[in-house]
Amino acid sequence: MTAPAKVYVRTFGCQMNVYDSERMTELLGRHGFAPTSTLEDADVVVLNTCHIREKAAEKVYSDLGRIRQIKAARASAGRQTLIAVAGCVAQAEGDEVLRRAPFVDLVVGPQSYHRLGDLLARAKSERRGIVDTGFPNEDKFASLPQRTPPRAVTAFLSVQEGCDKFCSFCVVPYTRGSEFSRPVSDLEAEARRLTEHGVREITLLGQNVNAYHGLGPDGHPWSLARLIARLAAVPDLTRIRYTTSHPRDMTEDLISAHRDEPKLMPYLHLPFQAGADRILAAMNRKHTAADYLALVARIRAARPDMALSTDIIVGFPGETECDFAATLALVAQVDFAQAYAFKFSPRPGTPAAALRDQVEDRVKIERLQRLQDLLGQQQTAFNSACIGRTLPVLFAAEGRHPGQLVGRSPYLQAVHAAADSSWLGGIGEVAIVGSGRNSLTGVLKSAQTPKA
Ligand code: SAH
Ligand code: SF4
Ligand code: F3S
Repeated sequence: MTAPAKVYVRTFGCQMNVYDSERMTELLGRHGFAPTSTLEDADVVVLNTCHIREKAAEKVYSDLGRIRQIKAARASAGRQTLIAVAGCVAQAEGDEVLRRAPFVDLVVGPQSYHRLGDLLARAKSERRGIVDTGFPNEDKFASLPQRTPPRAVTAFLSVQEGCDKFCSFCVVPYTRGSEFSRPVSDLEAEARRLTEHGVREITLLGQNVNAYHGLGPDGHPWSLARLIARLAAVPDLTRIRYTTSHPRDMTEDLISAHRDEPKLMPYLHLPFQAGADRILAAMNRKHTAADYLALVARIRAARPDMALSTDIIVGFPGETECDFAATLALVAQVDFAQAYAFKFSPRPGTPAAALRDQVEDRVKIERLQRLQDLLGQQQTAFNSACIGRTLPVLFAAEGRHPGQLVGRSPYLQAVHAAADSSWLGGIGEVAIVGSGRNSLTGVLKSAQTPKA
């Protein structure tokens, strides 16, 4: 008997790529490919790539170099390997991927991967590299097979794609195209299906998730807050999160949902990027530092315990020490539960890459370090303030030690506690006894909350 064909999928970049990788794996499952985590065994290798910063994009080419050797070794053993480059590098670079890596068989953009099965068949029979980076008219999601996810407690659900904001540093509007929202009924059906497979927490995804405006069952566009209310009615779904939000689209109904909808978790990823208004203007962010602070105040008025997270860029062209001090000051004022900070990376085709006054790398490194020190202190303080509290933890996986499970607090902190595996998928009340920068430890109180 011949072994079944295998596919290896490697994911770079954001959660939307994680979601897309799952859908590609499911799709290829329909075409007879079983997933493998061993490159040497793979008949098809899919690299689902990210173009957001230079480092992420270049990583793909170093990986490809290694995969090329494996392809050659398999070929000498008489086994064919098809290599597909998917995701945002595929979209941004198209033919260029084949020029730099001619052993690649397929380049497929984020809007075309529903055709992956047919494209691979073509690449195999035509024996030449194929590029599909169109923005097809057909609805990708409608063309994908119904979901058959692996059993898991938490899942991502892409509700919105693309971006019309054109921040001057960012490739997303080019790699993912313009904003598109999936219809409410499709999302509800997918959420129900996920819960049938054991999912208890769904994170709604979009590059600009709070700009969601999908078609509602009444024929009108619905906001993210209305979508959340609809999904909250799915009985087995116990927690809802969403990411990433733009400050401009943080509408009143969404803020109120954090007060009124118990299934919506008190955690919000709200990137501000920079603290100086002149840098924000050059970034085309369409908000000032004062706007951001006022928004945070409104959010905290609705939900006082809201944990905030953010993205920040240091060393945007023209950023002075004084501008950077404004970033540190904004961080100090908001007090984040966690955050991501990046060095500005000039991306081909974006307006900011062409600006004069690029900041020297050593300055960026030094600013990044100072910023990360402050963010680290805030995160550690946020976590240690939880000691002595009892938090509801949704247990999602086995922990590192036997007899231990790991789950998430409402504030997205990882919490480790001794508990048997019957608690997986259940919410337990956990007394927090220890904390570090990245996680908490606690003691599960007797089953006060029945298992979900
Ligand atoms: N849609 C989200 C996230 C986009 S990408 C948003 O609007 O915030 C994730 C993060 O990568 C961004 O928030 C930004 O902080 C960072 N980023 C994007 N382009 C970058 C670049 N050219 N250099 C450095 N960081 C970048
Ligand atoms: Fe990029 Fe700005 Fe759009 Fe976010 S809002 S995806 S940073 S262009
Ligand atoms: Fe990267 Fe594309 Fe996501 S560029 S961050 S994978 S949208």
